[in-house]
Amino acid sequence: MTPSPDTREINADRSDIEALDEIWLFGYGSLIYKVDFPYTESAPVYITGWQRRFWQGSHDHRGTPEKPGRVLTLIEAPKQRCFGIAYRVTLDVFDHLDHREKNGYLRSIQALDFADGDSRPGVVYIGQPDNPAFLGDAPIGQIAHQIFHSVGPSGPNSEYVHLLADALREHDELDEHVFEIDRLLREMRS
Ligand code: BEZ
Repeated sequence: MTPSPDTREINADRSDIEALDEIWLFGYGSLIYKVDFPYTESAPVYITGWQRRFWQGSHDHRGTPEKPGRVLTLIEAPKQRCFGIAYRVTLDVFDHLDHREKNGYLRSIQALDFADGDSRPGVVYIGQPDNPAFLGDAPIGQIAHQIFHSVGPSGPNSEYVHLLADALREHDELDEHVFEIDRLLREMRS
């Protein structure tokens, strides 16, 4: 039997978040351009030792079980840093988020570097390489091709890439992986 990527049961243990004085959630994907939960503050931040990659399969949002799309996860990359937005939230938002991110994402606590020089713990959803929905690396053209042809209940997979690339540009943030896929998708469309 294929193992289920459903992470809700594991993420139901909130003891790590409950122990935090302030709860900051790190958004590195769609959370950079769209937020559908309440928060009291937000700030641009970096996470060190990780990079953003379209290596996680999406069977439920930007693809289907038969034709999975590709969405982001964070991959360990010593010395690299990844830009994102931190949102200060309350514990109750995790009911919604754990449900939405149930396709292989586990929560972890990582250090977030704020612009004022402060480092604070933040909650991060990561699709680890051992989760059943993880697709991993592939030639960049193949990743773009899969994204181009994938659509799910949340819309076309390519829309996710374009909205993210536009949002990163607005923040003056360069991400070669995202920008190259964005470029290839536009090329395929024309
Ligand atoms: C995000 O930052 O948008 C995000 C990415 C993967 C899982 C959860 C949130």
